[in-house]
Amino acid sequence: MPDLKTYLKRQQRMIDAALRRYLPRESARPATVHRAMRHPVFAGGKRLRPILCLAAAEACGGESADAVAPACALELIHTYSLVHDDLPCMDNDDLRRGHPTTHVVFGDNVAVLAGDGLLTEAFAIIAQAPECRRFKTRDYVTELAWASDSRRLIGGQILDLEGEGRDLTKAQLVRIHEAKTAALLTSSVRLGGMVANTTPERLEALSEFGKSLGLAFQVIDDILDVTQSTEQLGKTAGKDQAVSKATYPAILGLEKSRKEAQRLTRKALKALKPFGRKAGRLDQIAHYLLDREY
Ligand code: IPE
Ligand code: IPE
Ligand code: MG
Ligand code: MG
Ligand code: MG
Repeated sequence: MPDLKTYLKRQQRMIDAALRRYLPRESARPATVHRAMRHPVFAGGKRLRPILCLAAAEACGGESADAVAPACALELIHTYSLVHDDLPCMDNDDLRRGHPTTHVVFGDNVAVLAGDGLLTEAFAIIAQAPECRRFKTRDYVTELAWASDSRRLIGGQILDLEGEGRDLTKAQLVRIHEAKTAALLTSSVRLGGMVANTTPERLEALSEFGKSLGLAFQVIDDILDVTQSTEQLGKTAGKDQAVSKATYPAILGLEKSRKEAQRLTRKALKALKPFGRKAGRLDQIAHYLLDREY
């Protein structure tokens, strides 16, 4: 088994190649929107959601090739959410993935539409995922819509905005993180399991894993905003405090936030028990995410 770094690189390359194929060419008319859609996608990014999707398919005894379409769809939903998250009317960020944000390069109006374009493309792509005995196209589409809808991703973004400058309880913060971040991570592993025709019990275990991992992921994101440099992150550091975002470090402090991320990661790892050695990659990825520096 190649080491994790090599594995991550290989999967990133595979996903990038597929995204290049799936997305309309830059020259497709109207070229402005297609250039603006490709800009944030190929600016970089860890490709974590696609990689989790591929690794979950492997953990369920499937072929990662079958998970490429859902993996790309997940990355496009995520990237659209970042394009909109960075808009001046949202978090107002001019740096993303080490590059000027889409609205800085193309203007707010084009950035909004490019985000809409990525969101729409995601559903066209997931509709191409291979069906299996237990799961059909409508199941994949329903899963992706679940994570992206106004109760999960969009709802979480609303609660995040409304939470600015307010003293939230930990329970309220958990609800925001579950919605804006953990839901899409949960669907990432579930979709991998689904294309691999996994059993209802294992799908449930993947949900447990994804939810805890997703919560840990956002706790770490909040910690990194405080502890890392803009250069290291490829996005503006210290933004959360500047606008009094409700975050883990703000509510619990850094030390307790780190403990919480560790606890959530342990909980995620526990959920992988039923998969035995086949979940080796998911296990490694969970550790890597806890220790990441950006
Ligand atoms: C950042 O996600 C936004 C959150 C949901 C916390 P990532 O840290 O996965 O960003 P990229 O894809 O690597 O740019
Ligand atoms: C982003 O949360 C969550 C979504 C885009 C859904 P953040 O606002 O913390 O993400 P960053 O820190 O800008 O990447
Ligand atoms: Mg935000
Ligand atoms: Mg933000
Ligand atoms: Mg953040």
